[in-house]
Amino acid sequence: MDAQIYGVHNLLLLAFFTSLLFPLSALPEIPPAKPSTQINSNSVLVALLDSHYTELSELVEKALLLQTLEEAVSNHNITIFAPRNEALERDLDPEFKQFLLEPRNLKSLQNLILFHVIPSRIESQQWPHVKMKPVHHTSLCRDASAEKIFLHRKNGAKVVSMAKVIKSDDIIRPDGVIHGIERLLVPKSVQQDFNARRSLRATAAVIPEGAPEVDPRTHRLKKKPPPLPAGAPPVLPIYDALAPGPSLAPAPAPGPGGPRHHFDGESQVKDFIQTLLHYGGYNEMADILVNLTSLASEMGRLVSEGYVLTVLAPNDEAMAKLTTDQLSEPGAPEQIMYYHLIPEYQTEESMYNSVRRFGKVKYDTLRLPHKVVAEEADGSVKFGQGEGSAYLFDPDIYTDGRISVQGIDGVLFPVEESAAATKAPPVAKIVSKPRRGKLMEIACNMLGAVGQDSRFSTCRY
Ligand SMILES: *[C@@H]1O[C@H](CO)[C@@H](O)[C@H](O)[C@H]1NC(C)=O
Ligand SMILES: *[C@@H]1O[C@H](CO)[C@@H](O)[C@H](O)[C@H]1NC(C)=O
Repeated sequence: MDAQIYGVHNLLLLAFFTSLLFPLSALPEIPPAKPSTQINSNSVLVALLDSHYTELSELVEKALLLQTLEEAVSNHNITIFAPRNEALERDLDPEFKQFLLEPRNLKSLQNLILFHVIPSRIESQQWPHVKMKPVHHTSLCRDASAEKIFLHRKNGAKVVSMAKVIKSDDIIRPDGVIHGIERLLVPKSVQQDFNARRSLRATAAVIPEGAPEVDPRTHRLKKKPPPLPAGAPPVLPIYDALAPGPSLAPAPAPGPGGPRHHFDGESQVKDFIQTLLHYGGYNEMADILVNLTSLASEMGRLVSEGYVLTVLAPNDEAMAKLTTDQLSEPGAPEQIMYYHLIPEYQTEESMYNSVRRFGKVKYDTLRLPHKVVAEEADGSVKFGQGEGSAYLFDPDIYTDGRISVQGIDGVLFPVEESAAATKAPPVAKIVSKPRRGKLMEIACNMLGAVGQDSRFSTCRY
């Protein structure tokens, strides 16, 4: 039932895009996606294009399938069976590959790729058990409606149709999963097209399956790796790990040994703050994280627990434009900062690649439920919309694999607020001689008014 709906949907989409884009497919550059739909930066599709499945990603782009797949993930979860790179290079019959890349065979290439995608979410724990019958799934390939993909086990190992799964749950995202498979799955229709085009012997694209690996020490079949890949994000979403509600109170002292202290988040945060200070032009940001709020220790704790963060750091010039109105609400500095923290590890390159491919990309922020939109502009990445936008100004100030700091030239506000914010009158100018951060100054004044400033040594100036 579902499958039929998707089938029809794809048929229309493919027909539309094939007719629209086919003449362009001969051009070396694929035009960037129309920014009509927005894709989430933590989408499985973005992850695929950034993954080590580079051969598959390249084919997805060559096949002009981004839009189709974008539509798919906006409607439902998908599971992608991603052939490892070797399966698409060394192990692939060169004639078959050449056939796939000829512009007139675009449909076959699309069918081949969509045959590796099913419109539902199958993680490894949903895989049929050893004694169960294979479970059949309809793929997104429109010309293979009768031909299913079947999931089963062979000698305990997970297998999809004829391909052994070599890395199950390799990439897990909120809208889908990618499993690495040993080789390409070729739908019969594509094989027939290939055979028809060139009256060759049956395609050699399907290579024989290797024997299951036996551990020489135990003489048993090698076990699959544990379900969570190394370095995978913690099971709980980051929002569950965030400290409850922002406040101006200093963070509680960290308890002895959290649940998963694989990483020394505190020293990574210290390190990036030092880097920000040395870099110059980001002193206010550093000051706020360390002195005005407890965000630095909060970030350290999150990183220690295995979360990753990207900090969009507004430079001092941008910070200086903040108005008292924007800062006077209790907890406003935290709220502003939380909107600049993305619970993902993104570098300039990964963000630029995403916006170039998808047009517009939405990033989650720690300020729920607000997202920040990014798009390509002037060869760089632009965050936010209209007047409240900011350009990626100092890329990759700090990147250590878990924390990434990207300098931007504006302070971002969620869309609803930015309208109000732009109307806010400018504040009285700053007079203090040794320039304190303006946020600090205002916050200390506010706290002073309610007699709490003694809590902050830095307010006594
Ligand atoms: C994808 O799957 C997750 C987990 O099962 C679910 O929470 C989410 O709503 C699904 N998304 C869509 C678009 O169906
Ligand atoms: C925090 O405040 C202290 C005291 O005013 C100051 O020396 C230090 O540089 C501030 N930290 C940052 C990161 O700005």
